[in-house]
Amino acid sequence: MKKHLFYLLLALVMIWCITGGCQQEEEISALHKEVPALAEVYQDFFPVGAAVNSWTIESHKELIEKHFNSLTAENEMKFESIQRSPGKYTFERADAIVELAEKNGMLVRGHTLVWHSQTPAWVFKDEKGRPASRELLLKRMEEHITTVVSRYRGQVYAWDVVNEAVTDGGGPGYLRTDSPWYRIIGPGYIAQAFIFAHRADPGAKLFYNDYSAVDPAKSDRIYRLLKDLLEQGVPVHGVGIQGHWDISYPSANQVEAAIRKYASLGLEVQITELDISVFPWSDRGHLRAAPKNRLRTQAQRYRELFEVFRRNKDVVTGVTFWGVADDRTWKDNFPVRGRKDWPLVFDEEHQPKAAFWEIVNF
Ligand code: GLA
Repeated sequence: MKKHLFYLLLALVMIWCITGGCQQEEEISALHKEVPALAEVYQDFFPVGAAVNSWTIESHKELIEKHFNSLTAENEMKFESIQRSPGKYTFERADAIVELAEKNGMLVRGHTLVWHSQTPAWVFKDEKGRPASRELLLKRMEEHITTVVSRYRGQVYAWDVVNEAVTDGGGPGYLRTDSPWYRIIGPGYIAQAFIFAHRADPGAKLFYNDYSAVDPAKSDRIYRLLKDLLEQGVPVHGVGIQGHWDISYPSANQVEAAIRKYASLGLEVQITELDISVFPWSDRGHLRAAPKNRLRTQAQRYRELFEVFRRNKDVVTGVTFWGVADDRTWKDNFPVRGRKDWPLVFDEEHQPKAAFWEIVNF
């Protein structure tokens, strides 16, 4: 009886193959193989990176290993992840990302050392819960930077040393004054952070990283900060333009103008957190699926932006996406909590989108 069943099954499989089933499978895998690897397509331009986290290095491993040659930890190297309580450093999650990068010969961007956000409250308080003194906070900054940067010396090639220190406007100066780093240490905290990082790894490229960095008014303020730092002899080597953009903002011209403006200071420029939301900023509506017309516009935006990046390859030394594929993106919770967005170049099934083809076919 069992034998009969076996022959029946065998016959069914053979019929399926003869009628083209096997071939279809082969075609599908051949199609998959034909998808070019992003990093290879861009090998004559700049490294192409992705922000990854402890989950996506498993769930998105295939895409990560095939397409990217640079990794950034989405959260795992931030102050609150590495030193949640005083002196207790936890590196396991960050190490796992660095290991994956090394196994695949990829670069690692370190993100981020000094930021007003995702930094535990204890950092800014003394043992009695009172605001920390300037000396205490500087000491903590030095210890944290030295410990983290030294650990990854030779492994992390570039650090976002200071994140988002420039104001969005309104105040008298160009710095954000609602940062506890600024309030307690004063404007000199930025220079100090770069000096500590440089001491810990003189070979690392040190970046200042910010959002709205192509907005004309904000880019003027960022430019002033960088110019001041350079004039003081502070070791800053590049500027990170985050690149959380959308289908209607910013224009390619605006992006190019900002790149050239920063480059005129002799700095490298990297796009450090690229994603293009299908929702213009003022649109707070929800959508059940990604509409075709918005995906087409998104693809065109990706194309024109990558044209700018390629054209400026003399100064653009890296482009990193803030995520891997549309099934896991911070944009699902920002600026509207729980609203699905589709900002990347791989879809929820990890397949290349129109945007992908626009940036690889040029
Ligand atoms: C900023 C930070 C990133 C990340 C994003 C949102 O751009 O630099 O680390 O937190 O916001 O995901």
